[in-house]
Amino acid sequence: MSFEIKYKDARGRVGTLKTPHGTIKTPALMPVIHPGKQTLQVADYGAEVVITNAYLIYKNEDLREIALNEGVHELIDFPGPIITDSGSFQLSVYGDVQVSNQEIIEFQEKIGTDIGTSLDIPTPPSVKRERAERELEITLQRAIESLEVRDELMLNSVVQGSTFPDLRSKCADALGEMDFQVHPIGAVVPLMESYRYKELVEVVMASVSHLPDSRPRHLMGAGHPMIFALAVAMGCDLFDSAAYILYAEADRLLMPNGTLKLENLYEMPCSCEVCTNYTPEQLRQMEKPERSKLLAIHNLRISFAEMRMIRQAIVEGSLWELVEQRCRAHPFLLEALRTLKNYSEDLEKYDPPYKKSAFFYTGPESLHRPEVYRHLKKMKQTPPKKSVLLLPRSGKPYSERLYDIPERFYRVIRQQESLDQLEDMQVTVVDVPFGVIPLELDQVYPLAQNESPDSYDEDSLKMVRNILSDYLEGFDQVIISEEVVEAFSLNKKYPLEEYHFPQPLNIVVNEQERIKMIADYQFGAGSGEGLFSGDVKIVKSRKTGKIRHVYDDEELIATLRASDGVFVLAREGARRLHRYLPYPKNRVVVNEDAEPFAREGKSIFAKFVINCDIDIHAKEEVLIVNEQDQLLAFGKSILNGREILDFNTGQAVKTRKGGF
Ligand code: GUN
Ligand code: ZN
Repeated sequence: MSFEIKYKDARGRVGTLKTPHGTIKTPALMPVIHPGKQTLQVADYGAEVVITNAYLIYKNEDLREIALNEGVHELIDFPGPIITDSGSFQLSVYGDVQVSNQEIIEFQEKIGTDIGTSLDIPTPPSVKRERAERELEITLQRAIESLEVRDELMLNSVVQGSTFPDLRSKCADALGEMDFQVHPIGAVVPLMESYRYKELVEVVMASVSHLPDSRPRHLMGAGHPMIFALAVAMGCDLFDSAAYILYAEADRLLMPNGTLKLENLYEMPCSCEVCTNYTPEQLRQMEKPERSKLLAIHNLRISFAEMRMIRQAIVEGSLWELVEQRCRAHPFLLEALRTLKNYSEDLEKYDPPYKKSAFFYTGPESLHRPEVYRHLKKMKQTPPKKSVLLLPRSGKPYSERLYDIPERFYRVIRQQESLDQLEDMQVTVVDVPFGVIPLELDQVYPLAQNESPDSYDEDSLKMVRNILSDYLEGFDQVIISEEVVEAFSLNKKYPLEEYHFPQPLNIVVNEQERIKMIADYQFGAGSGEGLFSGDVKIVKSRKTGKIRHVYDDEELIATLRASDGVFVLAREGARRLHRYLPYPKNRVVVNEDAEPFAREGKSIFAKFVINCDIDIHAKEEVLIVNEQDQLLAFGKSILNGREILDFNTGQAVKTRKGGF
């Protein structure tokens, strides 16, 4: 079995999972098949993988016989990958099961399941800590036992720990050390049933952040499409749905933003074959079995469509926008979305810094997206000049708009030297959601590739005021345009002194400074000097007038990518960056076997990587070196540093050029 990541967004991953019965795309939805009762062929509606219950098969003599003789794939008539659950859910509902952990593991192996599950204990939410700890111990012991009992069976091992984040993390750490293939996150059904989505976020984040990145995670019992996007953004790869049939039997239609009751329907809600071929009245008049089957088809169609939409959003980098939309479907989902702001540091490491999609501000929650967190962190690392001039936004790109300097009022809030040193002044635009944007960076993703409303809401104003008070700390002298003072209600905060520029100010961004600041922003403070020291020649696009290439005499150092305004290294750029950045910064270190391939410019597979800079993000320009830190090649990372180290399958870096 093997798992590979192809695309990333937020903590979400689009990948492939290879199993003995075929390869599936993730994130994936696995319809629950009730052995012996199933009438729908779920593969016809998009299922690539299903889940069924080994305990129900084990307990029923007829089913058991068929499964033992012909295999579980024959029994449920599904040729693709099958995951089986162990009876733990029955344990949690009925308090008891008539099977031991060892028996159910052996049974799953015998019936030929692709991935089996040990008999974990689904400790419910909000129990006493002692109980959660005690049951967690049993869950861990059974996980260990399942490894001893199995022969070749691939194994799930379920993260438990009730609503104690530290117990979830502890469990995840322990299981991650052992040889399991998939990690379900268990006992979340009661949270979802009672709309406790905030706690769901806490449980999932505590688990996922301690699980190995290289294994898929399954959010057990999550079958409502309303929470798929949020769960995927937190790093869940697999979902199972009994909901499609259970809701159908209760005359309910699943939708990506909630549930509809058939009895209330005046119109059918979607474009699936059921919704286009029947009216609500026709469905209401039908016999129950026929109606349930049709509603189940709608529920499957809607659920798979949502999963496709999520995978698409990851590939194009718009998963956050989708999550923000979905989380507006229920107040408690909105609360869950807001809870994610407590995980910015973690999410920032996984979220790729460069995306195909623009950043859309959809409400105050957008202020806490990892992109904003990352920008503010980067702003703290750039050494400020002595003085700063704050200007309002006036359409993007900011630096191409003329700032009508002399006719405006300005306010000086700090003055330690005379004001005639305006030459060396940092010009910074103040805007939502990124707060402060030095003019040199006005074309860098996502500072240029974002949209927000012209009128600012209270949360944004407050946030920008906080950002400003941090940012301005670094300057001896601050001049603020009156429009910024007004837009962000700064009057009270700063007792300001009125000021007029003595002469017209011509704000032109110095191109040499621009390329250095972009490089600092992209590769860390000082990198601009490392990359572009000496005589460098800037070549602009004839069509757009924007910087395209930077040369050292004849050799290309780097190209500024038009779509996101950051540098793509050329050979000389890689050489310079390698010389400048200390090991292991921005490096991916490959073993001897991979060295010739790297030098030839072949892409780097994760299994050849022996070390790397843990702080690398996906989609960054990285240096490929050997153990002696000799530069072999350079390229673009597909995974982040942690993932590169954890994975043994799939590509880690798409190599641009070798030949060193
Ligand atoms: N199905 C839903 N929740 C659970 C759980 O916690 N453990 C197992 N094994 N199956 C589940
Ligand atoms: Zn429909």
